[in-house]
Amino acid sequence: MLPTEVDGRQLPPGTISRSVQVDLRSPWAIRDVEIPTRLVLAPMAGVSVQAFRRQGRRYGAGLVCSEMVSCAGLHHGNERTLGYLRISADERPLAVQIFGSEPEVMAEAARMVEDAGADLVDVNFGCPVKKVTKTGAGATLLEDPERACGVISAVAEAVSVPVTVKMRRGIENGSRSCLELGPRLVEAGASSLTLHPRSARQMYTGEADHSLTAELAALVEVPVVASGDVTSRARAQAILATTGAAAVMVGRAAQGNPWALREILDGDAGEPTREEVVAELILFMRETVRELGERRATGFLKKFYGWYLGRGRFPRPFKAELVQLETLDEVETRLLAAAPGAAEVLQGLLDELPDAEDDVILDLPISIYGGG
Ligand SMILES: Cc1cc2nc3c(=O)[nH]c(=O)nc-3n(C[C@H](O)[C@H](O)[C@H](O)COP(=O)(O)O)c2cc1C
Repeated sequence: MLPTEVDGRQLPPGTISRSVQVDLRSPWAIRDVEIPTRLVLAPMAGVSVQAFRRQGRRYGAGLVCSEMVSCAGLHHGNERTLGYLRISADERPLAVQIFGSEPEVMAEAARMVEDAGADLVDVNFGCPVKKVTKTGAGATLLEDPERACGVISAVAEAVSVPVTVKMRRGIENGSRSCLELGPRLVEAGASSLTLHPRSARQMYTGEADHSLTAELAALVEVPVVASGDVTSRARAQAILATTGAAAVMVGRAAQGNPWALREILDGDAGEPTREEVVAELILFMRETVRELGERRATGFLKKFYGWYLGRGRFPRPFKAELVQLETLDEVETRLLAAAPGAAEVLQGLLDELPDAEDDVILDLPISIYGGG
């Protein structure tokens, strides 16, 4: 029997919903790009630095995505940016996300992204942040189908790698714009669609309505990726089984918590030890310093302390203490004092890492305004 509802919501008649159990460890492809698992790490502005993406790959994400690279910044050189995009071989397959609303500017940015070695060019049609939407980019394009299709066909013509689109359901609550736009974007050249089925107005409140993901997957021939509230293996399997999506995307659940990816892929592997948590956090800090420089990294990393050390892993005052420390060296020393065995675990992680010298640093500024 095929399921007739997703998340307790009735599917419209005619929606084909496949109730097959999808093996999260089975490979799939976006056109000719092979992706080893059904787990995609979400692009998140202010989070998806290279350390996050490489960590995601180590814990089983089959595909990772950069933060939004600013096309406006590329063109005018005047946008506030977090830094420059750095990519390395062990991140691949890698999607680099671009945003903007001018087809020609977007095509130029896509060419740069392809030249830099991205396996996929992802276009952001979901960002709800005003700074982005008021320029006609991000979620605004969900309600401007002519321009949206113009952007995708210009980008798809400009590059030979597959072009993918990340969308929200629409701007207003209850909107179903993604269902009209999705098939048109595929016609314009999109090789995969990721849907985060919340409205732009909702930001991150309420719930992702994956009955829309099922409807979209039934309408298009290309793989659909389901994004939103994937927090456990049970949830991931339910979404894959009831929507016909090819893969699930994980965002917030993986913040400071790569072990969530392992749980989603393989089932409960138990909580990480304190030593593992501290070792991963220190590695993350060191890699982030390499990417952003010590000054930027110091502020950037503060939110990660709570994400790593929370979830009952360390007492609350410990995080507050770390945030007060002035240098990252002091933070590292304090972390190692709290979990002395972490030094050995860290050494093991460092031994496994490929050489940083293989990194390519691109002349592409990372936008500080992200979202989707
Ligand atoms: C802090 C933050 C930043 C985000 N930045 C982006 C972005 O730059 N581009 C994008 O397409 N989506 C962005 N998103 C949306 C996520 O990729 C994802 O679709 C959303 O968080 C829902 O998935 P989740 O419930 O697994 O977090 C962002 C989300 C968060 C929480």
